[in-house]
Amino acid sequence: MRNPIHLSKCLTVYAAATLLLFGCSNSLTSRAPSQAAVASAHPTATAAGLEVLSAGGNAFDAAVAVSATLAVVEPYSSGIGGGGFWLLHRARDAHQVMVDGRETAPLAAHRDMYLDEAGAVRPGLSVDGALAAGIPGEPAALVHIAKKYGELPLAHSLAPAIRAARDGFAVTTHYQRMAKFRLQALRQSADAAAVFLKDGQVPPTDFMIRQSALADTLQQLADKGRDGFYAGAVAEQLISGVKSAGGIWSQKDLSSYKVIEREVLVGEFRNYRITTAPPPSSGGVALLTMLNVLSGFEFESLPEVERVHLTVEAMRRAYRDRAQYLGDSDFVEVPVQLLTSADYAAGLRAGIHPQSATPSDLLPGPQTIPGGQHTTHFSVIDRQGNRVAATLSINYPFGAGFVVPGTGVLLNDEMDDFSAKPGTPNVYGLVGAEANAIAPGKRMLSSMSPTFVESDERLAILGTPGGSRIITMVLHGILAFVEGGDATAIVTTPRYHHQYLPDVIQHETGALSNDTKADLQLKGHQLKEVESGFGNMQAVVWDKTRNVVSAASDPRGEGVAQVK
Ligand code: DON
Repeated sequence: MRNPIHLSKCLTVYAAATLLLFGCSNSLTSRAPSQAAVASAHPTATAAGLEVLSAGGNAFDAAVAVSATLAVVEPYSSGIGGGGFWLLHRARDAHQVMVDGRETAPLAAHRDMYLDEAGAVRPGLSVDGALAAGIPGEPAALVHIAKKYGELPLAHSLAPAIRAARDGFAVTTHYQRMAKFRLQALRQSADAAAVFLKDGQVPPTDFMIRQSALADTLQQLADKGRDGFYAGAVAEQLISGVKSAGGIWSQKDLSSYKVIEREVLVGEFRNYRITTAPPPSSGGVALLTMLNVLSGFEFESLPEVERVHLTVEAMRRAYRDRAQYLGDSDFVEVPVQLLTSADYAAGLRAGIHPQSATPSDLLPGPQTIPGGQHTTHFSVIDRQGNRVAATLSINYPFGAGFVVPGTGVLLNDEMDDFSAKPGTPNVYGLVGAEANAIAPGKRMLSSMSPTFVESDERLAILGTPGGSRIITMVLHGILAFVEGGDATAIVTTPRYHHQYLPDVIQHETGALSNDTKADLQLKGHQLKEVESGFGNMQAVVWDKTRNVVSAASDPRGEGVAQVK
């Protein structure tokens, strides 16, 4: 049996093969898309991407513009006080890479920093306020992407974000929900309250959120590149602001922050190439494990209950492994090759009972993770065929709820993605193992899974926020596409999720028919309906045969997808 999954160690070979494929591909498929497209979680961010494309920028310039604008207009989702993963494909040489701008633990961090004398986790410490914040990676990543892959000056691509910060954006009901959820934390930070609240309360709809200090900080970044954030006056403000609020950042943390270019993970499923996120994301490994397990079943033709059962059992096993083995591969050995191999999947498949659920308690390993409500994703393609899938985060809605005085920078609370104590759940119920323990300079484990799915005829660029559910949502998106669905099908497909523990299938209202639910229960599955739907997927699809580009934004969110 051929091994469907391989690490792209042989990226060059792969790139050459892809070039050959396209170079020699039959004349029915197109080498470059007829149109460009941007799908993001906010209309202003999508407009920023299109503006930069119209000005002669490529998909990478557009990605910088969209990221920076999302940092302004979706302050509860991502920001320059946070980080993310940008999956890139450069058309001219088929170079693929993941730009890792994930936050790192401060150098003064230590594994027990959120525990009290008795060894118990001190609630809130890794979630609210300055001590919860990792060292931001997004500013460095934007500078890196603009410099290495873009065609326009960084300042050009940051201009729409700076404008949005000065002009302001209107509060929506979604903003209100997020601000209400984080009201206590935002009130604790004078600068956060001044910007994101009105008289200490959730602002009314259409109230304008203007961020002049953030505009100034973005301008520093535009003028000075990396040094506009990680050195000089802004860095001084960041450090003194964090320290006086109980945090532990130092200048060395900022100076030594490094963007890392990671080799992408590449797998295969039903003749589609899956290009996805390597560690410190757990997403790619888990996705490839699930797809490998499913590839051995003819599940597409099965009744819904059988299909859901097998998918859930694949999810359960991949998430068990996530909890056990995944962490920052620069610090711990992550058995990526093994977990994504066909043989390993065959072993997992053999343990799946066709008629009954495997109780998670019977699978060895630690507990793990439910999902959150924020973070953001966008997808871009330009007319050369360059593409970006990027998932960005400050973790919890409004991150740590703390704005560093004078800078407008809202800090992340990504430290909570570490396991503060093996066996004790984090804010999403996450329990991790040794692999994801806190260490100075280490990147906390993520679920963010920006992904490309590609055959000779079709391409999809996709991803979503949603905490631990990100990975299974991307799985549903991949399956919808591989089965012939378009961009709309990718973002609208009903979602269900299993993550090993808690041992329950979470599903959206209406995602499973009553008959299927009843039959799943007969197989021993527990079900839990999640009221408000989850995720906010953004997808771009290129049909190479007809040379048509389409894009779709998740109807569960406020995003806009546009083809141009
Ligand atoms: O990196 C991660 O996996 C999390 N910080 C993502 C958080 C998230 O998606 C929040 N929910 N929508």
